Amino acid sequence: SAAEKGGHEYFMLKEIDEQPEALANTLRGHFEAGRIILDEQRISDQDLRDVDKVFVVACGSAYHSGLVAKYAIEHWTRLPVEVELASEFRYRDPVLDRDTLVVAVSQSGETADTLEAVRHAREQKARVLAVCNTNGAQIPRESDAVLYTHAGPEIGVASTKAFLAQIAANYLVGLALAQARGTKYPDEVAREFAELEAMPAAVQKVLSTVDQVRDLGRRIADSKAVLFLGRHVGFPVALEGALKLKELAYMHAEGFAAGELKHGPIALVEEGLPIVVVMPSPKGRAVLHSKLVSNISEIQARGARTIVIAEEGDEAVRPFADELIEIPAVPTLLQPLVSTVPLQVLAAEIARTRGYDVDKPRNLAKSVTVE
Ligand code: G6P
Repeated sequence: SAAEKGGHEYFMLKEIDEQPEALANTLRGHFEAGRIILDEQRISDQDLRDVDKVFVVACGSAYHSGLVAKYAIEHWTRLPVEVELASEFRYRDPVLDRDTLVVAVSQSGETADTLEAVRHAREQKARVLAVCNTNGAQIPRESDAVLYTHAGPEIGVASTKAFLAQIAANYLVGLALAQARGTKYPDEVAREFAELEAMPAAVQKVLSTVDQVRDLGRRIADSKAVLFLGRHVGFPVALEGALKLKELAYMHAEGFAAGELKHGPIALVEEGLPIVVVMPSPKGRAVLHSKLVSNISEIQARGARTIVIAEEGDEAVRPFADELIEIPAVPTLLQPLVSTVPLQVLAAEIARTRGYDVDKPRNLAKSVTVE
């Protein structure tokens, strides 16, 4: 009913609006007396300290949250982090032992491939930490430690608030490991946590500006395809933006690492093709920023319609942006929490304009419990 949707036409639109709350609820209670705390920990602190390699395994949007986490966890802990699709991981012969931590990320906690990846990891004696949005689901039940995302129930098939909450929770896992290993001093962990705590307000700010994105969505709804480019943490955001558009609008959409542009994607550029570019901060990532500015000028010169997501006050990008979507300045590693939001809104609005039900996209299920 309309009441359940809080006055929104679709659950997904309500869930997009609930993201600040989902983030705040996910962070709440996880930093006490100067320490990051997990929800459930059935292994010792020493076991966490002994971790020498991390795998993140997941499917769909949860996999993209893992790709984002890799940048932060490697930076904070100096541990190697591999991010794997659960369906690939479980049929390979991954190198695992008791000092390997497998982080299984799943909104539902019931995804068949992720569950089997957990079982496979435990058979090899690896430790498993679940990041899950559903209390008491199978994946957390079979794991050695659990961090719950508190996004609340997600009804829309395409993940939105659970995805943002997964990013935050994965970061808490990274900080917990950094703390256990001593690669970050306690005051640095406190500072990173405080930066995370500022994110609900930043996401709220983005939500207050999305009318412009809706208008853009209506104008490009009849495009044949849309490409997405990003670098560093903006690369998984590009993948997520493309996935949302495929899921909801049934459009050909692909995300690329912008550094790969000249290795293939640039051949796809033709007159009028919308290309969404997720820009890093001009201050925080100046080198990557300038490389992306030159990428945008190249695709624009070849006729692409450039849609640029950039930090407020990013003047260098303006001349090359046919459409400019501004996001607040936030620490580099946290940018996906703000840059993903316009891409969710864009996909939903394109789908609505094309006349599709954004809560129940064709052929998709909320939770894939059979292979
Ligand atoms: C399905 C959903 C996606 C979700 C994926 C993984 O494909 O449509 O939104 O990201 O499953 O689900 P999980 O529950 O494991 O996070």
